[in-house]
Amino acid sequence: MKLGRNEPCWCKSGKKYKACHLAFDERLEGLASEGKLIPTHEMIKNQEQIAGIREASKLNTEILDMVSEHVKEGISTGELNSLVHEYTLAHGAVPAPLGYENFPKSICTSIDDVVCHGIPDSKRILKSGDIINIDVTTILNGYYGDASRMYCIGEVTAEKRRLVQVAKECLDLGLAVVKPWGYLGDIGYAINSHAKKNGYSIVEDIGGHGVGLEFHEDPWVSHIGQPGTDIVLVPGMIFTIEPMVNMGDAEVWIDEEDGWTVYTEDGEPSAQWEYTVLVTEQGAEVLTR
Ligand code: MF3
Ligand code: CO
Ligand code: CO
Repeated sequence: MKLGRNEPCWCKSGKKYKACHLAFDERLEGLASEGKLIPTHEMIKNQEQIAGIREASKLNTEILDMVSEHVKEGISTGELNSLVHEYTLAHGAVPAPLGYENFPKSICTSIDDVVCHGIPDSKRILKSGDIINIDVTTILNGYYGDASRMYCIGEVTAEKRRLVQVAKECLDLGLAVVKPWGYLGDIGYAINSHAKKNGYSIVEDIGGHGVGLEFHEDPWVSHIGQPGTDIVLVPGMIFTIEPMVNMGDAEVWIDEEDGWTVYTEDGEPSAQWEYTVLVTEQGAEVLTR
């Protein structure tokens, strides 16, 4: 069903279609007729939604900054979880992981060969030599922001420090190719190329995701991928980039007992960093890092 030029735009901006997304839709229809994949309206946020997601994301960054001060040898992942949980509630927000598909805690803590979705545990005390990812997702006024960072605890081997560093570079190189009228596949290609160049592999089974009104929305964001393929990127799209970089093989398995913890098949370490990213008219804006 086509919108009339003078009808209100589908994005709920309150503007007439002709003054809002009409030219934009015509450009997308042109690309679709060339066989390109184009985003659905659900993947494009309006100004009000972007403002809300920006606020949730800002708090998410503050929470990561807060917990970063405590990520040291001797603290347990359970204590890190409690710090985030309490701080989040004290700021009028809700930790998204808690109760999400039965996840039992408020953050994910993934150490060494845990790729992602590690469950905080008061008995798991951080020790010298660990590398840990802390993944925080915050819901504020119904809007979501999602990010994660890596930390090296005490004396970490040069090999593991390099893995952590290259994983960050992979994320930043993925971010660098995000631009309106580019392609989702450009991101994974940049990431995978850098990982391979460094002798590492990228996890294929788990990807980034649209985020903002829900925890996990379309599109699914591959961290491998080919340039000029997958969905066209347009202003207003918000998704995460969160490559999992393995020192060894890309294969992973999920713990059946807890239903969540993802491990590398070969037991080699893995590192991950995550940003929530908004596609803008000019390029990209990192909403939470
Ligand atoms: N924050 C993770 C992500 O980046 C998702 C964790 S799901 C949870 O997508 F239930 F484990 F929290
Ligand atoms: Co995410
Ligand atoms: Co996350």
